[in-house]
Amino acid sequence: MTEQRGEVVLRVVPHMTDINTNGHIFGGWVLSQMDIAGGIVASRIAQGPVATVAIESMTFIAPILLGDIVSVYAHEERRGRTSVAVRIDVVATRGRKAAKVELTSGLFTFVALDENHRPRPLPEA
Ligand SMILES: CC(C)(COP(=O)(O)OP(=O)(O)OC[C@H]1O[C@@H](n2cnc3c(N)ncnc32)[C@H](O)[C@@H]1OP(=O)(O)O)[C@@H](O)C(=O)NCCC(=O)NCCS
Repeated sequence: MTEQRGEVVLRVVPHMTDINTNGHIFGGWVLSQMDIAGGIVASRIAQGPVATVAIESMTFIAPILLGDIVSVYAHEERRGRTSVAVRIDVVATRGRKAAKVELTSGLFTFVALDENHRPRPLPEA
């Protein structure tokens, strides 16, 4: 996980219904939170709607447990003509001592969309 995590875009708590048969939180649940957080950062950069075009990398570092407070950090890593790659790091605050546990890290690419749902050039940085 990178040292520079960017801002906390989401802080969420998983529910009983998000547990898989191992007693951990479903990978799909955390992917969904990452997609939401990355989309917020990307649409701010694009100044309009974006679509997720690719998950370029995704690492599940440690299991997420019920009771974790899950913080989703995101920052721009790379910018193209119509696309932006957003680094998303997820960290749990766990237990009475509020230990920080690194959970996942991914690089999601979003494309700015025009009114016809086609790629649109990003505004000037
Ligand atoms: C997003 C979408 C409009 C892009 O259309 P497209 O015809 O592939 O567009 P382009 O080939 O012109 O690529 C657009 C940008 O995406 C990038 N891109 C396309 N495929 C990519 C991939 N697999 N990985 C990383 N970047 C990719 C291109 O490099 C380009 O970036 P740039 O302009 O910054 O250089 C189209 O693929 C789409 O609608 N996909 C479905 C999106 C979706 O439903 N997402 C889930 C819900 S949000």
